Amino acid sequence: MFSPTGIGKSAPKILALTAAASQSQFSQLRPESSGSDIPDTVASNLNLPVARVLTPAEQQACFGQAGAAGSQASRTAEGDGPQVRAGVSLPLAAGPTFWTLAARTRNMTSSVIRDLLKLTQRPDIISFAGGLPSPETFPVEAFAQACDRVLRSDDARNALQYSPTEGLPALREAVADSLPWRVDPAHVLITTGSQQALDLVAKILVDPGSKVLVETPTYLGALQAFQPMEPNVVCVDSDDSGMLPADLAAKIADARFLYILPNFQNPTGRSMSEARRAAISDLAALAGVPVLEDNPYGELWFDAPPPAPLASRHPENTVYMGSFSKVLAPGLRLGFLVAPPEIHRRLVIAKQAADLHSSTFNQRVVVEVMRDGFLDGHVPTIRALYKNKRDAMMAAMEREMSGLGVRWNRPAGGMFLWARLPDGLSATRLLEQAVGKGVAFVPGQAFYAAEPDDRTLRLSFVTATPAQIEAGIAALAGAIREALSALPDGQIKQ
Ligand SMILES: Cc1ncc(COP(=O)(O)O)c(C=O)c1O
Repeated sequence: MFSPTGIGKSAPKILALTAAASQSQFSQLRPESSGSDIPDTVASNLNLPVARVLTPAEQQACFGQAGAAGSQASRTAEGDGPQVRAGVSLPLAAGPTFWTLAARTRNMTSSVIRDLLKLTQRPDIISFAGGLPSPETFPVEAFAQACDRVLRSDDARNALQYSPTEGLPALREAVADSLPWRVDPAHVLITTGSQQALDLVAKILVDPGSKVLVETPTYLGALQAFQPMEPNVVCVDSDDSGMLPADLAAKIADARFLYILPNFQNPTGRSMSEARRAAISDLAALAGVPVLEDNPYGELWFDAPPPAPLASRHPENTVYMGSFSKVLAPGLRLGFLVAPPEIHRRLVIAKQAADLHSSTFNQRVVVEVMRDGFLDGHVPTIRALYKNKRDAMMAAMEREMSGLGVRWNRPAGGMFLWARLPDGLSATRLLEQAVGKGVAFVPGQAFYAAEPDDRTLRLSFVTATPAQIEAGIAALAGAIREALSALPDGQIKQ
């Protein structure tokens, strides 16, 4: 149990928790709930020392005036939670003894994918699990030269100084110029990755219980960003071309926004047709529901550029988000959004509180790198590389998976391929067998806000070499064959 500035009802329970947490410091942290899972007997069996209540002078020494006063609080952050005893316990061991987590942390879950990545980073595993761009594409030399120019310029010190929350004017202008519809640079906000844009938008638009519409499946990182605001996330039925307008029409009333990924979606790799974009964008405008358009992969097309963004049809109704992560480097942590003026103003205020501004230095370097049309030459090299890897994965899938009842799509850009296992198989269970054979992927169920389809899986084709792709898909097919042969009737069903 954790309570504000003080220990909850039972000191021995806390100490037991501290002992348990010593293996993994914060693994036991959780929002206060109706009762502790740690029985008193566990603490006494462990012979733990008994906590005592600090004197007011000790409290002040530990926590200052506010802490001492705060310890008199009689309620937890959850309002109706258990009463908090006045006073705080002595911190006998390092551990999360003194913390009461806000209720919203119940909704802050670790990304399955980030956790999974740790497991699959073994050198002997061919990983299709990561969502990382290929490091081969990072223009190291261009960055080295740009850094040098920035640091040797007369204005070098300003590159290391605080800067406006909205972003550097030169970068905002470059972003506005790069977009395929007329964008006023005043409506651009430079963000710390487009991930921050998701967080800021949720902060200004979502109250507890607000309806937020998402695709089925959708980007896990967006769900993570929205969840702390406690939305009512409603999944809109989707097909190979994204959200189905008929289902959207049935669900759109009173939504705070709908979140869509029109190009080479994460996780499915699918894209929205021109007609689908028009239908969804017009429907949202008619219903007075804003669109949150997330487009980090749009530049990574293989044969033809995708249709125009939804924002170009209804800019007054759309927050558009883009990123430098996939066309330059994700470690820069630079992205951007374009929003109508009043929403832009609110987002700037939210960003002030979040991080004041995104890295001045990185913005200066990116402006310098992009000078003279650098991206016009660089991005086609990424497209060519990824297309080659997509082709390698398609060929390997056709060779290895035919006859196994697996279905997969053919992404026209981006980084991901989406597959569905035959009836009776679970991608989550398959992962263990696959890792045993030296290959990893992401089970699709992580990407569903409701009713996960555990037969689906995401395969990233951009970080492995073509030879690894060949070997990895063969190993995956081996794992699927094994799983199929363990089915009761040995039957392959689609
Ligand atoms: C769909 C989508 N949106 C947003 C992001 C966040 O990207 P970044 O914060 O690096 O711009 C990602 C990252 O993979 C993504 O796949």
